[in-house]
Amino acid sequence: MDYKSQINIKEVPGHVAIIMDGNGRWAKQHNKPRIFGHKNGVFSVRSVVEGAGEIGLKYLTLYAFSTENWKRPKIEVAALMQLLVATISNEVSALNKNNVRLLTIGDLSSLPGNCEKELQKAMDKTKGNTGLSLILALSYSSKTEIINAVKKIASDVVENALTIEDINDSVFNSYLDTAVIEDPQLLIRTSGEYRLSNFLLWQIAYSELYFTDKFWPDFTKEDLFKAIVDYQGRERRFGLTSEQVGK
Ligand code: FPP
Repeated sequence: MDYKSQINIKEVPGHVAIIMDGNGRWAKQHNKPRIFGHKNGVFSVRSVVEGAGEIGLKYLTLYAFSTENWKRPKIEVAALMQLLVATISNEVSALNKNNVRLLTIGDLSSLPGNCEKELQKAMDKTKGNTGLSLILALSYSSKTEIINAVKKIASDVVENALTIEDINDSVFNSYLDTAVIEDPQLLIRTSGEYRLSNFLLWQIAYSELYFTDKFWPDFTKEDLFKAIVDYQGRERRFGLTSEQVGK
């Protein structure tokens, strides 16, 4: 079935966030080492970024590496970092060709030097692009992001740059890594797991959640379109009644 043609282009969500999961299990299914799953996961990243551009998405956030992922076997972490460097440097011209701007959230300084450098270079080269913003969550922890925001707010209060009364939803939001990015309307997780895994906990307060059993390397832009069609069929009430939202 062609899901793309079923999408109401006028009501495409501004921001879709994805927890890419199942690379390891996909590799196991194919009797291959885990890194084979990650390598194939890159094809899915490419397909989904392409699809996001086709339907005019503004923001696409991909959970590529959590702070908890540092605890994985050293060999897998090193291979993932290498894959990231290689992918970024290979893809930067395609990003530019497609008007995609690369952004990151998370603690870039904890990544290996070459990885951080490659990412900074790619962000710099794509900063003028006005199409899709592709946000990679790298060495990211939502709880850490929230704690860092609280620390900065506390320090601004101590320095009289902010009063306690000033603190509200939008001020708090402005202290997060995602300050200038609208909250995701849709969060997708692959691989049949029903968890949030410390991802964008503040930002997804009212996101629609979509889970699919597909492992990430099997996920393509067509699956993204399917998730968006599903999202567009939902009624978003934000705590109101059906009658109030007028559907
Ligand atoms: C989750 O599968 C996937 C990751 C932790 C890494 C995602 C990385 C990529 C898709 C490749 C590089 C990405 C970019 C953006 C260039 P898992 O290993 O947790 O799978 P499992 O749950 O089956 O073990």
